[in-house]
Amino acid sequence: MGVRAKIVGPEQAERLAKIHARCFEASWSIKEFAKLLENPAVQAIVLVEDDRDTGLALLQNLAGETEILTFGIIRARRGNGMGYRLLQAICDLARAGSSRSIFLEVSKNNQAATHLYAGFGFEQVGVRQDYYADGSDAIICRLSLLD
Ligand SMILES: CC(C)(COP(=O)(O)OP(=O)(O)OC[C@H]1O[C@@H](n2cnc3c(N)ncnc32)[C@H](O)[C@@H]1OP(=O)(O)O)[C@@H](O)C(=O)NCCC(=O)NCCS
Repeated sequence: MGVRAKIVGPEQAERLAKIHARCFEASWSIKEFAKLLENPAVQAIVLVEDDRDTGLALLQNLAGETEILTFGIIRARRGNGMGYRLLQAICDLARAGSSRSIFLEVSKNNQAATHLYAGFGFEQVGVRQDYYADGSDAIICRLSLLD
């Protein structure tokens, strides 16, 4: 029991799509997850809390850098430290794959995520203006794993 992070493969695409739909309005399909996970550089993590799927992350490892492609906690379990716990699992996996840093993009308007990332130690390294469909800017954040 307790909280654990499980690495899953393309055969779990349906499970990932279900969790994603519980995290985001615009969810990704089973096919999209299966296709992304065909790429050996892409890894998926499911956060499991007492045998219930609570969150997910998709990572891409390239040239010593890990990019977070998607990251979410299901609505019913937010505000309980699960996002923080999932970031710790991402760091462990990135370090195990010899990554030097982790990158992600987040909407400037996404208060929950920007607060979580800043509290975890991510630094803003760039901005893409008017990046999202709602016209909001994307903030590019980086966490060094070497410090
Ligand atoms: C962003 C998200 C993953 C945060 O998950 P979570 O499990 O609620 O986060 P935690 O409980 O670990 O909270 C971590 C910190 O963020 C803060 N936080 C959480 N929700 C917040 C909110 N709505 N507004 C401000 N701060 C918030 C917490 O207070 C905590 O800060 P603290 O340590 O200073 O107290 C979750 O809201 C989510 O899945 N959102 C939808 C998907 C999404 O936006 N993903 C990120 C895309 S880049």
